[in-house]
Amino acid sequence: MDDRLSLLLEKQDTAFYVFDAAVLKQRIAYLRSKLPKRLELCYAVKANPFISGEISGCVERFEICSPGEAYICRDIGIKPSETVISGIYKTPSFIEELAADKGFDGIFTAESLTQYRQLCGLSEKYGRRIKVLPRLTNDSQFGMNAEDIKDIIDTLGEHPNIEITGIQYFSGTQKTSLKRFRRELEMLDRFISELKEEHGFEAAELEYGTGFPVAYFRNEELDEEALLAGFSELTDNMTFKGRFIIELGRSIAASCGKYYTHIVDIKHNKGMDYALIDGGMHQLVYFGQQMAMKQPYVSVIGKQEIIGDRLWTVCGSLCSMNDIVVKQLPLPDIEIGDVLCFENTGAYCMTEGISLLLSRDLPAVYITREDGSLWRVRPTFETKELNEPKYERM
Ligand SMILES: Cc1ncc(COP(=O)(O)O)c(C=O)c1O
Repeated sequence: MDDRLSLLLEKQDTAFYVFDAAVLKQRIAYLRSKLPKRLELCYAVKANPFISGEISGCVERFEICSPGEAYICRDIGIKPSETVISGIYKTPSFIEELAADKGFDGIFTAESLTQYRQLCGLSEKYGRRIKVLPRLTNDSQFGMNAEDIKDIIDTLGEHPNIEITGIQYFSGTQKTSLKRFRRELEMLDRFISELKEEHGFEAAELEYGTGFPVAYFRNEELDEEALLAGFSELTDNMTFKGRFIIELGRSIAASCGKYYTHIVDIKHNKGMDYALIDGGMHQLVYFGQQMAMKQPYVSVIGKQEIIGDRLWTVCGSLCSMNDIVVKQLPLPDIEIGDVLCFENTGAYCMTEGISLLLSRDLPAVYITREDGSLWRVRPTFETKELNEPKYERM
């Protein structure tokens, strides 16, 4: 066992996450080696804000979707020029704060005409050049119609401080079909050509928010090499030759994370074997988890050999019958105090759960670096403070 893990197991008596910076950087290097050199990477901070500082310099851009994410990136020293302020709703006061800040030279996506108009108004109010990426809708509540973007382009002359750098498009996540990629990339290629030929606008960049899939579960089939090769070929065939940036969250972050949780009780109820853990579904969120019907990669620290044919139902401590993390799980000879390690938990696990239920503690977060050092980036965090009523007469 890695000395750093032994140290953590001694120190941590409740659940915790560990993010391995070496695995993270190898993952980015792997993605780059399988994609055309021209493709740039934009890391979607929402996937895991804790690792953003570790990959500063390893990706070209950071996608920020809330004031909180922006302040985190600022505080860890991400350059504003490497950020894109995105998100379906942009807190107006926060957008104004950035527009007024002479040190901010990042890009804003415009998700709607309302957002675009606000940016135009701010560019006039502060006399500052504002870079904008209008987002084309994927026929959902995200982005805006092609016609709206064309209107923006046609009336650019009225807003001399606005610079439209290109187009942004987000089409959802976990796509495995090359046919869908082809359809979308061909559509974007046509749209960009149309903007050039019919509206005299040359898009300098395309930011494509695709989100590559991650195989989280056993028996899940994903031929990632073939998918990346197919995607690369599609991008090579495009007429558009400007900057091409892809937004990735889980595909970058998932594999670097492990979640450790202690077995705190064991019972045999009406023919079922239950292992109770001090974590739960609020700290372990896998895309497509489907009521624990799928089996993630999980092991017991220090025990390898699966004993007997007992199949375990692993449940968390949320006092909810829904808090079932895995069903039908073969395990070694477990006992109370053993620690389960769940893999591929580097993305979303710590941010998407119902973290405040039962006022339970949030797990501590650690990062291991390539030089062998171990860093704590958040101690076990008591949420009692957040859930406690504090009366203040208004
Ligand atoms: C605009 C945008 N880009 C990228 C992503 C990243 O998706 P994923 O983590 O699946 O890669 C998201 C996820 O919600 C998103 O909204």
